[in-house]
Amino acid sequence: MQTHQFIQQLWFDYLHVTPQAKTIHLAFEAAGETLVNDHLAFRTFDQSPINLVMLEQHLLNMGYQHFEPYYFSDKHLNAWCYLPPEKGLPRIFFSELITAQLSEAAQQIIYKLIQEIPVEVVKRPAVFWAGRLWSMPCWHDYQTLLQESEYAAWLSVMGLRANHFTLSVNHLTQHKDLSAVLDRVEGLGIQLNQSGGRIKGSKETLLEQGATMADKMLMHFADGSEHLVSTCYYEFAQRHTDLSGQIYEGFVPASANHIFDSTSVLKT
Ligand code: NI
Repeated sequence: MQTHQFIQQLWFDYLHVTPQAKTIHLAFEAAGETLVNDHLAFRTFDQSPINLVMLEQHLLNMGYQHFEPYYFSDKHLNAWCYLPPEKGLPRIFFSELITAQLSEAAQQIIYKLIQEIPVEVVKRPAVFWAGRLWSMPCWHDYQTLLQESEYAAWLSVMGLRANHFTLSVNHLTQHKDLSAVLDRVEGLGIQLNQSGGRIKGSKETLLEQGATMADKMLMHFADGSEHLVSTCYYEFAQRHTDLSGQIYEGFVPASANHIFDSTSVLKT
C-alpha cells in the first residue's frame, strides 16, 4: 500500500470519531493556512497479535525507520518514534501497554480481549484502522481498567486507529507560534489539555506541544449500559533547531506523558 494512501485512510477513520478535527482544519484553512501533519500516534497491547513488533513491520515496509525508543514508567508504556521515508509524510509515534505491569484483575480483562483478535488481521496494513478487534467490554471491566490505566481503558473501547494527528506549527504562515495556534483553537470553543500546562516543553527542549481534550462519543457497553467515552484528540507541535542547525526530530518524554492525558475521563 502506498504510504500517502495509508495516511489518508487513517485520517478518514480518525475524522469519523473526531469531529473537532474537521472544525480545526476548516478554521485554519479559512485563515489561509496549508496544513501539514507533524506526526500521528498509535496505541496497542503488548503480548498480543497486534503488538508493536508485529505491527511495525508494515511501517518498515513503507520505508519508515526507527528513530528513538521511549519508556513511560508511570503509564506502563514502551514507545518508538519512526521517521518517514520522505518529506511531507508524518513521523509516527507508536506506544504499547506493558500489560504485565498491571494488576492480575486488569491483566485478565485484557487477556480476554486479545484472545478474540483474528491472527490473520495483522497481515494487512488496514489493521491500523481496524478499530476494536474484540467484543465491547462491560462497563465494570472498563472501570477496572480505568482505575489503573486510562490508556488500557481507551484501547479496550477504541481499538487500533490513529489516536491523534498533529498540526505542524512550523509549516504555518499566518500564526507566529504555538501560543497563537492554541488561541485560535480555544476560540473555536474546543477544550485544551492543561496537564503540565497549556504548552508542554519549551524552546530549550527543542519541541513545544499542545493538545485538545478528546471528543466524546456515546458507547454501548456489553452489559447494555451506555456511557460517554473519550475518542481521539488533535495535537499541535512546534519544533526548534539544535546548536548544529538541525530540526529536532524526536519527542520529549515528559511532554508526551502529559499529552497522553488528552483522553482522560472522570473516574466513577
Ligand atoms: Ni503526539
